[in-house]
Amino acid sequence: MSEILSLAKAYEKYFKIGAAVSPMQVKKHHDLLLQQFNSLTAENEMKYEPTEPEEGKFCFDLADPIVAMAREMSVKIRAHAPVWHNQTPAWMYLDGDRPAAPELIYERIDAHSKALCEHFNQDVYAWDVVNEATRDDVPDPEKNPGESPVYRNSEYYKLCGTGFIEAAFRSMSKYAAPDAQLFYNDYSETVPDKRDRIVSLIRNLQEKGCRVDGIGMQQHHMAVPDYDEIKRSIEIYANMGLRIHVTELDISMMATFNQGNYRLKPGDPGFEEYIKEALKTTPEKLAKINKIYVKLFEIYRSYADVIDCVTTWGIADDYTWLDFFGMKPGSPIIKQHPLLFDINGEPKPCVAQLIDAVKN
Ligand code: GLA
Repeated sequence: MSEILSLAKAYEKYFKIGAAVSPMQVKKHHDLLLQQFNSLTAENEMKYEPTEPEEGKFCFDLADPIVAMAREMSVKIRAHAPVWHNQTPAWMYLDGDRPAAPELIYERIDAHSKALCEHFNQDVYAWDVVNEATRDDVPDPEKNPGESPVYRNSEYYKLCGTGFIEAAFRSMSKYAAPDAQLFYNDYSETVPDKRDRIVSLIRNLQEKGCRVDGIGMQQHHMAVPDYDEIKRSIEIYANMGLRIHVTELDISMMATFNQGNYRLKPGDPGFEEYIKEALKTTPEKLAKINKIYVKLFEIYRSYADVIDCVTTWGIADDYTWLDFFGMKPGSPIIKQHPLLFDINGEPKPCVAQLIDAVKN
């Protein structure tokens, strides 16, 4: 019988290897999770909407099977992501039929954090307390009068300014288990102008005396990676006293040809052609994805003194959010092959290469 090689075991002296999962994927890839991973993240099930669909009515039924899997693996969870502009119920922003006052929003965030911690604390080692609160672009004073050059103009921001971010960190630091770490999580975190905004958001929190232990670098690669900027970003964040988790790593087909800094979104000029190009799976593109994984892990390993966990956003290519990314409902699936395990849950060539790279 051939030896089963485990990525998580091979990387024990570097960092944890995590996967974002749904209850369905947990069932399907039960053995693969046990063998290859030692950290779990709920893809959606610990977000605001599923956990508190109505104010004060908490529901953990969707997340609990993921917690059970973590226990079976004898590992803890990276909990993701209570305060975010998406997947948050509409009641959050309302007081009856009027916009909610900031204090009401802070009270709600506090009650939510308390309930999550009471339920999950013993199974969580890190929280993505706030997700994606910086903006992607420079505001145009004509089109976006009064908008912040740093913060996303979300409902939260419109109602509270930066107060909701501080409230979220203060509440979570009150209720989280003493050894659980608190993270700010964001994407395009290595693109210089976006990174400046992220740095400014975290500095602001630090100046206000909020405890922030780490930065979640999502690492969704939808453009050819700029390895120097990745290294520079790790150094910049580490110099701010932050621990680093790679939280949502995947390498889409687009990362093999899109030379831009940012991922294109539906509605952006050129998006249709970009998606069409991504549709074409070729052995060359698959080999490029493989190579990118090897190169990225080489970088992560060289910063293992500050990186504690590398999580892929999914387990295997049979299911990934990228297959639906930017597509109109009902469109054909565009397979992106962005993960470490293929559509049959078999390791891609890079898995053996990643393990070989740390053999002594
Ligand atoms: C973002 C969020 C995740 C997830 C992905 C797409 O990166 O942080 O929670 O929703 O988008 O699946």
